[in-house]
Amino acid sequence: MWSKGEVEYDDRRMSGEMPPDAAARAADGEARLRVVMVVSEAVPFAKTGGLADVSSAFSLALAGLGHDVSLVLPRYREAADAGSPAGRVTVTVGEVAYEVGLFAASLGRDVRVTLLDCPPLYDREGLYGAGGRDHPDNPARFGLLVRAALGLGAAAPEPPSVIHAHDWQAALGPVMLSAGLPGLERLRGSASVQTIHNLAYQGVFPPDCLGALGLAEAAGVASTLAHKTGVSFLKGGIVYSDAVTTVSPGYAREIVGAEFGRGLDPSLRERGTSLTGILNGIDVDVWDPTADPHLPAPFSAGDLEGKRASKRAVIECYGLPTDEATLTRPLVGMVSRMVPQKGLDLLAEISDDLAGLDATFVVLGTGMAEYQALWQGLAARHPAQVGVHVGFDEARAHLVEGGADLFLMPSRFEPCGLNQLYSLRYGTVPVVRATGGLADTVRPFDPATGQGTGFVFTEYSAAALMASLRAALAVFGDRAAWRRIQVNGMAEDHSWDVSAREYVKVYRRAVASARRRAGGTAEQAGPGSTRFE
Ligand code: ADP
Ligand code: GLC
Repeated sequence: MWSKGEVEYDDRRMSGEMPPDAAARAADGEARLRVVMVVSEAVPFAKTGGLADVSSAFSLALAGLGHDVSLVLPRYREAADAGSPAGRVTVTVGEVAYEVGLFAASLGRDVRVTLLDCPPLYDREGLYGAGGRDHPDNPARFGLLVRAALGLGAAAPEPPSVIHAHDWQAALGPVMLSAGLPGLERLRGSASVQTIHNLAYQGVFPPDCLGALGLAEAAGVASTLAHKTGVSFLKGGIVYSDAVTTVSPGYAREIVGAEFGRGLDPSLRERGTSLTGILNGIDVDVWDPTADPHLPAPFSAGDLEGKRASKRAVIECYGLPTDEATLTRPLVGMVSRMVPQKGLDLLAEISDDLAGLDATFVVLGTGMAEYQALWQGLAARHPAQVGVHVGFDEARAHLVEGGADLFLMPSRFEPCGLNQLYSLRYGTVPVVRATGGLADTVRPFDPATGQGTGFVFTEYSAAALMASLRAALAVFGDRAAWRRIQVNGMAEDHSWDVSAREYVKVYRRAVASARRRAGGTAEQAGPGSTRFE
């Protein structure tokens, strides 16, 4: 149930903008789409990983193609300064009525952002958990996010063309849409798209949470979401959406098999060609070595001199010696959530061998205590050679990308990965395992032809990782070859432009299928149409 309280909700009015012309065309010559992104993190409001970078940069690119894009996310404690008050609504999820403050913000000029203020659920430490434990009320926290986002869509002058749900936190979107909950009738013609950024996080909760979410009575929902020991929100998004995407073609191929499918591969296979892999792009304005405020000096493929200043700065910032030998020796960087996905067990196996290499290491990350301790122990044993910073530090992440010569991503699996893309743009040569998006984006260097952008190993083993690292360090000694690899990577275009156009194609197919489902002309319903009421 959705109650607008005192406000008539129009998020365009909230940000002082005029509603865009509904008849306007987008870059592909077709009608402009109205897209609501439902997402649990977005730069600059809240971030734990790549999802936050992607939701913002992708939304901006989509708006740049002429679409009407808005984004709804919680107003966590770390976003407490963001946005300005724009009304209050009562959102009823199952049996509970939440008083929600709406805060309006924007990304760039064109993307409207609504932050949901509900202190009992969001004003606390940690986006998803704290002290190594998930917040126990996550079903309610993200149930509210979804129900509120759908309510906002239903209350807008024109219903959205597409509700785009990201990861498990938003995956009840397709479920609630399909269940036709009261108050959402105007969304009957809206398409839903589910993007999987990481299949490892499936949002599995005890089955009785469905009652509290008002979904216990919805036909087929409990049995469809049943997964492992409970119900999986992500499974709901996969099954009930009009289209499913994931963040690289490689990962799309991997997750339909048992090895990477994590038990959801049967549901994914069932989606057939409705599942597509679209490579993430990067925000080329935020990650631009020619104009990065976090670097001491700009640099580019044509003039790499400034990269040396970044190398010195990052070495200094980690408290490592700044003598000529350290400045000359290859600097290996790593910026990563410290979780098993990222290949940290391989590094644990060979940690002391790493220190035997003629290289310096700078590591930034936060996550599981055992991995943090692993790096901290290594730094304590090799203080002149290994620098570790445990914590989340955006500025330092840029500096590591700017100053390192090589970037290490030995992931066990990697849906897409962004750091290797930042590395390519910063002339920082990636050493990666051939999995998911890493295999799609890093071309192995071939000394015979001078082609390639990095070093790639296939077998998930410490020996293969070590061999790849050694090969990279050997080429580092050949200045001309190294420069060639750097320039090859820096010349590539990983902006969002191409991928955003791919998403638009997915949206158009999803809209067509939603229209068929709703029985004809729902998508053409005009502003304030009463067609669904
Ligand atoms: P994932 O989303 O699996 O963590 P990605 O490579 O897609 O991996 O994105 C990670 C993003 O998070 C990058 O922008 C990276 O710079 C950032 N990041 C990860 N850990 C940290 C940290 N400790 N401090 C700052 N930024 C970090
Ligand atoms: C996930 C994945 C990562 C991907 C990111 C953004 O967190 O682990 O590979 O780049 O989402 O899509």
